Amino acid sequence: MHIKAGGIAIITLLLSTGFQISDAQAGPEKRCLACHSFADKNNMGPGLKGVFGRKAGTHPGFEYSESLKNADWVWNEENLRKWLYDAPSSIKELTGDDKAKTEMPKYKYKGEKADKTINFLKTLK
Ligand code: HEC
Repeated sequence: MHIKAGGIAIITLLLSTGFQISDAQAGPEKRCLACHSFADKNNMGPGLKGVFGRKAGTHPGFEYSESLKNADWVWNEENLRKWLYDAPSSIKELTGDDKAKTEMPKYKYKGEKADKTINFLKTLK
């Protein structure tokens, strides 16, 4: 009996809290939450709401690195793919400056992982 009751409690818990997780945050993007919110709020990293199609380094209230502050590109599939694979090298390529630096770590996301993450970012409007 106890086990049964516990099982129901767990199912209820999953139904009440789990859906949000399975909706949006169960894919490779969940690791981003360590530093980013998927809303406007800035944490260690800038809020990612609306980041797809936004000019890099322009989320209000975030203290970007010099490299992103002066960025002249818009986040699209191509540069996000580079960024998610290796931000510290791609910042050099994107800025054309060998000394450019970013605090966003290297994630080595590629293939399906990168696709899923980018598709997810597109939904953050
Ligand atoms: C350890 C912390 C950390 C994690 C984890 C992290 N980021 Fe970041 N991210 C940052 C920081 C810090 C910046 C700002 C870098 C700068 O100013 O150079 C940033 C910047 C970005 C930007 C540029 C935003 C803009 O407004 O130009 C994007 C896009 C981004 N991150 C996506 C992601 C995604 C997607 C993930 C998950 C795969 C992720 N980040 C995981 C720390 C992190």
